[in-house]
Amino acid sequence: MSQSFAEQVEDVRAAALEALDAAAGPEDVEKARVEFMGRSRGRLKDLMGLLRKLPAEEKKTAGRLVNQLKKQLTEAFEVQKKGRSGALAAGAGVDLTQPAARLEVGHVHPLTQTFEELQEVFGSLGFSCVEGPEIETEHHNFDALNIPSDHPARDSFDTFFLDSGGLLRSHTSPTQIRVMESGPPPVRVIVPGRVYRPDAVDATHHYCFHQCEGLMVDEDISFADLKAVLNMAMEGVFGPGTRTRFRPSFFPFTEPSAEVDVSCIFCGAEGCRICKRTGWIELLGAGMVDPAVFEAVGYDPERYTGFAFGIGVERLAMLKYQIPDIRMFTDNDLRFLEQF
Ligand code: PHE
Repeated sequence: MSQSFAEQVEDVRAAALEALDAAAGPEDVEKARVEFMGRSRGRLKDLMGLLRKLPAEEKKTAGRLVNQLKKQLTEAFEVQKKGRSGALAAGAGVDLTQPAARLEVGHVHPLTQTFEELQEVFGSLGFSCVEGPEIETEHHNFDALNIPSDHPARDSFDTFFLDSGGLLRSHTSPTQIRVMESGPPPVRVIVPGRVYRPDAVDATHHYCFHQCEGLMVDEDISFADLKAVLNMAMEGVFGPGTRTRFRPSFFPFTEPSAEVDVSCIFCGAEGCRICKRTGWIELLGAGMVDPAVFEAVGYDPERYTGFAFGIGVERLAMLKYQIPDIRMFTDNDLRFLEQF
């Protein structure tokens, strides 16, 4: 007696799974797929043909068998295509309906978030964003910024000197020089980037940290423009109502120079633990570009004026998110990073 329909289904199932199991590579899998699942002549197709010739009362059960087989083989070939072993595809104890392992979604690093925010805030004020090299020349990091080799201010911008004669920039200000050397005013840029200093590492110091430089040069740029731009930017970063306070300071490349404080965002300048009861938090250095810097880059100091500022990006992020230790940015501890 010839085989029953159910037996033929079982034969095809066994043969297909065996072929899959024996497949050594993608070509074998494809060959087996054509043999069993091929649209015009596959063995599954043959079963369909037989099915049609069955007496009506047998068709229903037989049809269910073929459909089950089709589903199983489709899944098994799918799994094989994705590179699983034949044994797994054959359904050896593998539950194909099991939910997939949870995908971990990454977080944008808090420093990157801070940079993006600065870029957006200053971008809305017409500043474009440029980057400069981390390996700098003495000319850009010092001399052109009005810090000659015999000047004591070299000390505050001390850095790592390389055997090649270059150095790791100790601030983003050398990119001011590069921007001005590359073309005439008007200039309106910010420069985000990494800087280096030979500092001992502690909760607020690191040998490698980030700054965001700002530079605006044109005719008739005044200290009032500096104050207005920084006021708007700090309101953008810390929220409406944030104020700035300028204290006289010294930088070789700006004259006059200022340390800029923002009103404490935690107590509304009332005085709290974070602002050490002063109501103000020191955030950045700024000033009007020194005419000696304009001369170094070939700008006419009689015609042009401008301002520059440098923001400590870790400092800003630590303040904004109340991060107590600068080392947390580079510890790579997911428990920290996942909070942002
Ligand atoms: N480069 C200075 C620093 O690193 C900051 C600064 C930039 C000050 C621009 C004034 C103008 O401390």
